[in-house]
Amino acid sequence: MKIGILSFRSLNRQASEEEIELKKQAKARGHIARIFRAAKFQLVYDRESPWFFYNGKPLKKYDVMITRPAVVRDVDLSIALIEQLEMAGIPLFNNYHSILKAKNKIKTTQILDHYGIPLPKTVVIHRPEDVAQAAKMVGGFPVIVKNPFGSFGNGVTIIESMRALNSFLVWDKPLYLLQEYVKYSKGKDMRVFVVNGKVVGSMMRSAKKGEFRSNIELGGIGAPIEPTPEEIAIAIRSVQALDLHYGGVDIMRSKTGPVVLEVNSNPGFKALETATGVSVAGAIVDYAVEFAERHYSYVSQKIEE
Ligand SMILES: Nc1ncnc2c1ncn2[C@@H]1O[C@H](COP(=O)(O)OP(=O)(O)O)[C@@H](O)[C@H]1O
Ligand SMILES: [Mg+2]
Repeated sequence: MKIGILSFRSLNRQASEEEIELKKQAKARGHIARIFRAAKFQLVYDRESPWFFYNGKPLKKYDVMITRPAVVRDVDLSIALIEQLEMAGIPLFNNYHSILKAKNKIKTTQILDHYGIPLPKTVVIHRPEDVAQAAKMVGGFPVIVKNPFGSFGNGVTIIESMRALNSFLVWDKPLYLLQEYVKYSKGKDMRVFVVNGKVVGSMMRSAKKGEFRSNIELGGIGAPIEPTPEEIAIAIRSVQALDLHYGGVDIMRSKTGPVVLEVNSNPGFKALETATGVSVAGAIVDYAVEFAERHYSYVSQKIEE
């Protein structure tokens, strides 16, 4: 198979370790693999032309694209490419709709709540008049404030007082999530990696000293852990609720049981591979191939009918 890995990193940065590992695992399985950089695509709207140019040349056909949408700003705009690839009939792994849902923490919260998945108490606020009441509703200070489009811990802040909260919030930004601070977990949370409806690996992340966020990018340390059956079920349901083919679910152990913080559609996995020895990239490639094979057999079946 020809497997594309679609990277959304800016061109002044090299491909990520994850993207390189996905390519390596695809090649190790006898596939052709190539990392594509989103910024080198041109979308062409001319009935005479192919739809995509890559690096100035028409894009050759790839059987499946593994998307790595590390987009933080202008999400809708950045993933126009993903949408366009999907419309051109290329199976995407994760696809457009699931990425849109997972990139927006408000959408994620809505959907997970709808499916009955336990979450920390959360209030979406968009005007100063509601702040005091919202802070009370999530259990008082300290509270967690989240920017709907943050990742790597950027955009997640702990606020200790009403005065600090009022001076932190800037109202030219449309929306914030105000969230209950899950104190019980003491700066630890779990990253549970789900591929093809199964947990392939999990680690406990501990925040570094002086930090409450456990993100590896912020110096958090990962150690292998065996999630409980309840945590496994919650992780799998969360990924399925968002229709993701693969995802990393952040789960905290709270006083009342596990709660989901977020679901990542572009989860890092190098730290998880190091902590657990599991080839997450291998699992993603295997499922992408299986998924694409199913897709094409379905399409050819349709044509024969
Ligand atoms: N409600 C919360 N209570 C305590 N810690 C939290 C809470 N929400 C997030 N954190 C900490 O902040 C980190 C980043 O938050 P998360 O929602 O996963 O956003 P990001 O997309 O930036 O990773 C989490 O891994 C966790 O360590
Ligand atoms: Mg996270």
